Amino acid sequence: MKLNNYINGVWQEEGGADYTAVLNPANGKELAQVRLSTTEDVDQAVEAAKVAQKKWALVPAPKRADYLYAIANIMIEKKEHLSQVLTAEMGKVIEEARGEVQEGIDMAFYMAGEGRRLFGQTVPSELENKFAMSVRAPIGVVGLITPWNFPIAIATWKSFPAIVAGNTFLWKPATETPMMAYELAKIFEEVELPKGVANIVFGSGSTVGTAMIEHPDVKVISFTGSTETGRGIAELGGRHLKKISLEMGGKNAIIVMDDADVDLAVEGILWSAFGTAGQRCTACSRVIVHKSVKAELEQKLVESMKSLTIGDGADESNKIGPVINKGSLDKIESYVQIGKDEGATLLAGGSILTDGDLANGNYYAPTLFTDVKWDSRLAQEEIFGPVISLIEVESLEEAIEVNNSVEFGLSSAIFSRDVNRIFRAQRDLDTGIVYVNAGTTGAEIHLPFGGTKGTGNGHRDSGVAALDVYTEWKAIYIDYSGTLQRAQIDNN
Ligand code: UN1
Repeated sequence: MKLNNYINGVWQEEGGADYTAVLNPANGKELAQVRLSTTEDVDQAVEAAKVAQKKWALVPAPKRADYLYAIANIMIEKKEHLSQVLTAEMGKVIEEARGEVQEGIDMAFYMAGEGRRLFGQTVPSELENKFAMSVRAPIGVVGLITPWNFPIAIATWKSFPAIVAGNTFLWKPATETPMMAYELAKIFEEVELPKGVANIVFGSGSTVGTAMIEHPDVKVISFTGSTETGRGIAELGGRHLKKISLEMGGKNAIIVMDDADVDLAVEGILWSAFGTAGQRCTACSRVIVHKSVKAELEQKLVESMKSLTIGDGADESNKIGPVINKGSLDKIESYVQIGKDEGATLLAGGSILTDGDLANGNYYAPTLFTDVKWDSRLAQEEIFGPVISLIEVESLEEAIEVNNSVEFGLSSAIFSRDVNRIFRAQRDLDTGIVYVNAGTTGAEIHLPFGGTKGTGNGHRDSGVAALDVYTEWKAIYIDYSGTLQRAQIDNN
């Protein structure tokens, strides 16, 4: 199967294009070939999106939303199929894949609801017989660049608010996971979304991504991925005065206080550290533990980790699937070595798994380090794999300081039963998302998703906040006095 671009409602012909293989990370088998598009393909998609946007912006928002309701309903019908494709190309276990598809369905309904809100403000004017209001205006053509770890959910977080607000888009999905984009485009076709509203251009960041950012008719770039790539996008986009929304790395921590329900904390840690094989921006990769419960927590974690069955995510009995590719395995392996060199104690895991069928895929053993120094590389840098580092502290204040010591600020969590500590922590943890008595993953789509410091640049995905990325505020004054009234002058 060859995956070609979807531009102006048409699947592009092959036309001598280059392709690269899409591999199932569970077994290395080729699933498809994906097009490596050129700058000309991007130009074509932008042109289609630009023409379509003029008409799309005039479609009443509740009517634009009707397409999203229709998309949501088809996603519900196809939920199992979409989940299986997602597991095959990305590797996450099928139960999590179903959860991710559900996240997309939720977003479709939520943003469809926005079609009947898109709230602005009406405010009194300081002058007589004058009306003042603000409305959200669409921006134009927006460019979306999405990662492989949540290939459908993150695409919906960006594309659905964009279109309900009256924009059109071109979308570059990660080359590792183009099949979800293909599936979503099929759904756009099925609901007869007007041609040119949704355009998909497959290919590399260096060619397709750069062309999108540099194109004068792409007004917004919304990106989720690594901090390094995001910084490059911001630099290039800044030169072109683009609005750039970035969602980047994390080094998320769970704090376990001495008054915590330790068994519950163990469950929260396992789920948020090893779910998606640790490849979530929100994954827990540090556990900041009060010294009086450290030994108990270590022992319970090591014990519970034995129950984590690892293998092909398509098999319902597996709890942890593969990581995305060999490069990722190498990176995880190199951090485990760094941890050892830095003097951390390895309590579990710490190796690539190659037993039997696992040898054909990219599997890493769930890994636990303890006695990790808060300022070591193991505790500071994003690994994006199933590795956790335990750091001992003596107080809540120290725990918060350690949490905030990293360059990222996406998600954090505290396990405690003391209401005073909990309220202080939610105030002082410098992250965009804070959980109490739950792990660091599991954001719901109707709240803002994003982080502080090196995680982002002030924008948010999800929730009503996403609309701020895809709209301009327009202030409108209507003077019905029949005279020239000068603000700040005639009324003073
Ligand atoms: C991501 O890892 O980039 O909160 C997204 C969560 C999911 C989304 C994660 N709802 O873990």
